[in-house]
Amino acid sequence: MWRAVASLCMLMVLAASGHAEPWRPQVHFSPERHWMNDPNGLIFLDGEYHLFYQYNPEGELWGHMSWGHAVSSDLLHWHELPLAIPEDDHYMIFSGSVVVDVANTSGLGRDGAAVMVAVYTGARQGGEGVQNQQLAFSSDQGRTWTKYVGNPVLDLGMKEFRDPKVFWYAPGHTWIMAAVFAVQHQVALFASPDLIHWRHLSDFGPAGAIDAAWECPDLFPLPIEGDPVRSRWVLKVDVVRSQVAAGSGAQYFTGQFDGTRFVPDADPADPARAPLVHAVDYGMDFYASASWGNLPDPRRHVWLAWLDNWGYAMKAPTTAWRGAMSLPRELSLRQRGGTWQLVQQPVRELHSLRTGHRHIGAHELGTTPLELPRAAQPGAAVELIADLEEGSASEIGLRVHVGHGQQTTIGYNTATGTLF
Ligand code: FRU
Repeated sequence: MWRAVASLCMLMVLAASGHAEPWRPQVHFSPERHWMNDPNGLIFLDGEYHLFYQYNPEGELWGHMSWGHAVSSDLLHWHELPLAIPEDDHYMIFSGSVVVDVANTSGLGRDGAAVMVAVYTGARQGGEGVQNQQLAFSSDQGRTWTKYVGNPVLDLGMKEFRDPKVFWYAPGHTWIMAAVFAVQHQVALFASPDLIHWRHLSDFGPAGAIDAAWECPDLFPLPIEGDPVRSRWVLKVDVVRSQVAAGSGAQYFTGQFDGTRFVPDADPADPARAPLVHAVDYGMDFYASASWGNLPDPRRHVWLAWLDNWGYAMKAPTTAWRGAMSLPRELSLRQRGGTWQLVQQPVRELHSLRTGHRHIGAHELGTTPLELPRAAQPGAAVELIADLEEGSASEIGLRVHVGHGQQTTIGYNTATGTLF
């Protein structure tokens, strides 16, 4: 006979979406209709968080890739806007990023004013299937977009060259782009004074997981926890089908970016000093993460990801819509025995959704589980704060969504010390 103790607090959460279909998440973003995958072009401007995303305006399966668009003032309540950047006869619009060109370096701003510039991959329709990098710009808070007449701005004649992440690198007074040579398992870096003319700087990789194509790189400096001045660079890259997270998953490297190349921290346990690699998330549903640019607090870093996996995304039993985003997560770096590890927390804004709470004091658990009160209505959202004392149990946890031969278990294995 084993014993464990559970003490719980159930916080009622106000739905943020207002949608009522079965399986529709209430707090995570999902489009009103049709297929969605990667988040794209995450940027904050004039009080709005923009979320663009890979979107099929014509159906519930991947295809006709274009950029959908939603905005929020709090990272939680999203207002879906009309399609931002549609596919055209020549190209589908694959993943990419958005920058605010404050100084109008691109010359695309109206009357010299600041302009939003989207840098995305054009995936050529039919034929040889070349992928190149293109621009679109907006002078009205992302409501309407014009494709740049000189597209593509970067074409290497490659079939698998995509997912540009662009940011302003102040020390070098230049734009930097990180994009993948997907099948070579490399992140290629480029520089540009104006977002239009690009110069190749360096390549990183192959490194870490190379069992499938690399996708959606992100590169940014992160403050080190408890250190007000120092930061370290993080290079994240997704691997479409890999051991990282059983299917589509992401890995990251820490290191330094000197304006030309990313120099990874070496694995202290490896005599060959290979780059130290970490998994971003051990779950199966956190893919193609992207971080917000231009946040008002420059030390704050927030990202979210597609809450799905290429292994089954097209089979999700939802209708009218398919695909959801993870909660936005706040990022920091923690020093651990001479290495740095990414720490992810759901954004603090989530607290604003709490509407009431129910405290379920300490309960001693034997072999029979403790049944929790059901949420007031089906589909209602709750946040659970659980303190679990393992006692002599080998596994302890929570079962949610219990029904008809299925359940979701969130547990802790005391022998391996892992959450599952
Ligand atoms: C990642 C990805 C990207 C690509 C996009 C196409 O999930 O495969 O590499 O740009 O999706 O929708």
